[in-house]
Amino acid sequence: MDMQAELDRRQAEGLLRAPAVLDSPVGPRVRVEGREVLCFCSNDYLNLANDPAVRAAAKDAIDAWGVGSGASRLVSGTQRPHVELEAQLASFKGTESVVVTSTGWMANHVAVRTLAGAGDLILCDKLNHASILDAAAGASPGKDAPTMRTYPHRDTARLATLLKKHRPEHRRCLIVTDSLFSMDGDLAPLAELVELKTRHDAQLLIDEAHATGVLGENGRGAAELLGVEDQIDATVGTLSKALGGVGGFVAGRSVLIEMIRNTARAYIYTTAPPPAMCAAVGKALRIIQTQPGRRETLPALAKRLREGLQAMGLDTRDSASQIIPAVLGDANRAVEVSRRLLDAGYLIPAIRPPTVSPGTSRLRISLCAGHTREDVDNLLKDLRVCLD
Ligand SMILES: Cc1ncc(COP(=O)(O)O)c(C=O)c1O
Repeated sequence: MDMQAELDRRQAEGLLRAPAVLDSPVGPRVRVEGREVLCFCSNDYLNLANDPAVRAAAKDAIDAWGVGSGASRLVSGTQRPHVELEAQLASFKGTESVVVTSTGWMANHVAVRTLAGAGDLILCDKLNHASILDAAAGASPGKDAPTMRTYPHRDTARLATLLKKHRPEHRRCLIVTDSLFSMDGDLAPLAELVELKTRHDAQLLIDEAHATGVLGENGRGAAELLGVEDQIDATVGTLSKALGGVGGFVAGRSVLIEMIRNTARAYIYTTAPPPAMCAAVGKALRIIQTQPGRRETLPALAKRLREGLQAMGLDTRDSASQIIPAVLGDANRAVEVSRRLLDAGYLIPAIRPPTVSPGTSRLRISLCAGHTREDVDNLLKDLRVCLD
């Protein structure tokens, strides 16, 4: 491939990526291009990434444990903070066991590839996160690879048809879905998925990356919100979004977690996350459990923003969360509006193919606990101007 020609093509089609460089910690306000702007794009939904108590926990843990973990988990990379965070997450999620991984991406890999192998069928929502789709499609293709099929977004009728047709030919079947979709902000139909997986003797794995800490009365995620927690076979989460750090986890039955520890390549063959990261995330999790007020402001802010965007005639899909898309269509148009917004004091990068499908480029607006009603109203006012 002629790389320069490919980059030139992307540039012409508005698809070239050139991220803004932040000169500040992440938060409701960040420093970009020499000035402070409102940040409406991070996944640090509860503003724990730069919380003073979380920072202090990280600093203390660096003094106690150093910076790196020095080895993979199965060699000498399992330190007390890793084990403590896993126990804390298991208690939070109410599952038998939890394994922490270096990223959420890896958590999806280890979960998917442990729950499905040779002769098995994986059924994925088309809009699942890339880490699920890549894991399911066979990141390590070969004779142990499962068969993967996708169903249209949230289309349980089509999923039922696929199950009827293909389930009998396969040994095991795994249905995988984001619980809160990262680019549309809508929820998976978890109750219907539970019903289907029960009827067809399948397992259900959900990715609560964007819901953990935010949705449900106790912040346990969309499964808590929708009342189906005890019927989910396994859950993936990240430490990288509302929990304010970096890393991922899988929560489920002890037998699954033990199997991951013994066989999952993306767990075994990589250096363990830094112990200080585990300690910091542990602190963030305690804050989530003891300060529900942090997440309680988000639904009202989201409603206000969604209604304001819709009043401007913008397509917000079926957003039902702190993630609200404003679909603009053409990639170049999305880039232009995003640039105008930055000039007006808002950081909201354009989300373009292949992250979303062609013709659906958008501003993916995300809210965090530190935003105010005034911030939302100002964004709506200035966006109206930027769209002209
Ligand atoms: C739904 C979903 N799952 C998994 C991941 C991966 O998580 P991480 O960023 O911790 O690797 C992401 C993150 O971008 C995501 O949006």
